[in-house]
Amino acid sequence: IKRVTTHVIQELKNRGEKITALTAYDFSMAKVVDAAGVELILVGDSASNVMAGHETTLPITLDQMIYHASSVVRAVKRALVVVDLPFGSYQGNSSEALRSAIRIMKESGAHAVKLEGGVEIKESVTRILSAGVPVMGHLGLTPQSIYKFGTYTVRAKEEAEARKLIEDAQMLQEIGCFSVVLEKIPAALTKQVSQNLSIPTIGIGAGPDADGQILVLHDLLGITKEFKPRFLRRYADLNGIMNEAIAHYVDDVKTRSFPNESEAY
Ligand code: KIV
Ligand code: NA
Repeated sequence: IKRVTTHVIQELKNRGEKITALTAYDFSMAKVVDAAGVELILVGDSASNVMAGHETTLPITLDQMIYHASSVVRAVKRALVVVDLPFGSYQGNSSEALRSAIRIMKESGAHAVKLEGGVEIKESVTRILSAGVPVMGHLGLTPQSIYKFGTYTVRAKEEAEARKLIEDAQMLQEIGCFSVVLEKIPAALTKQVSQNLSIPTIGIGAGPDADGQILVLHDLLGITKEFKPRFLRRYADLNGIMNEAIAHYVDDVKTRSFPNESEAY
């Protein structure tokens, strides 16, 4: 199989083919996602919520991200594996950002990193890029800033915030990012940014005109069932399927129907 590189991701935009992306945090799920043909797998810091049960993405550590990323990398044969730099590992100064990115690349074997923010983190992104590490940007609703926003609602509805997002996206492209995630912004703004940029945009809750789409795997599969924003389409009810299977097992053990004679030695 031909590996998906950042160049392949760019070619997809160039020829007008939509890019597919999903999160994964572990070996077993990453194997399924990769085999199904998804081009970009994000080891998102949403692992903080989905895997660890935290309220926000802030508590997850660099060591924990590296653990998730190395599990995913061992499973993936084709997709591009991008890893979130967690909160606190890159905002302060650019040499710490570079150190964090290098740890991810060396210790997990991933192919790229993602950082949240625009002009505020320009130095950090520049420094990581100068080390030859591909960087994906992330603008709009950036969950590591939830305590600044105060809410998970749509971003950049106001003129000033939209203008800043457009400038930040342009800047991220100019300094050499290979792609930008646009999270929870108006569809018209996504369309404008995606047309202005030559690098691909990957949208989540950002409407149909991003160059690609990303969702949290557990949301798409219906494993997480409390989370239901309007942008989410559920492609399965795995929570229901898993619950039924496990309840069936409990019943079989209780009634002594499992294991049976052929399941014993
Ligand atoms: O952490 C994550 O899952 C993400 C995507 C939703 C873009 O950053
Ligand atoms: Na993230």
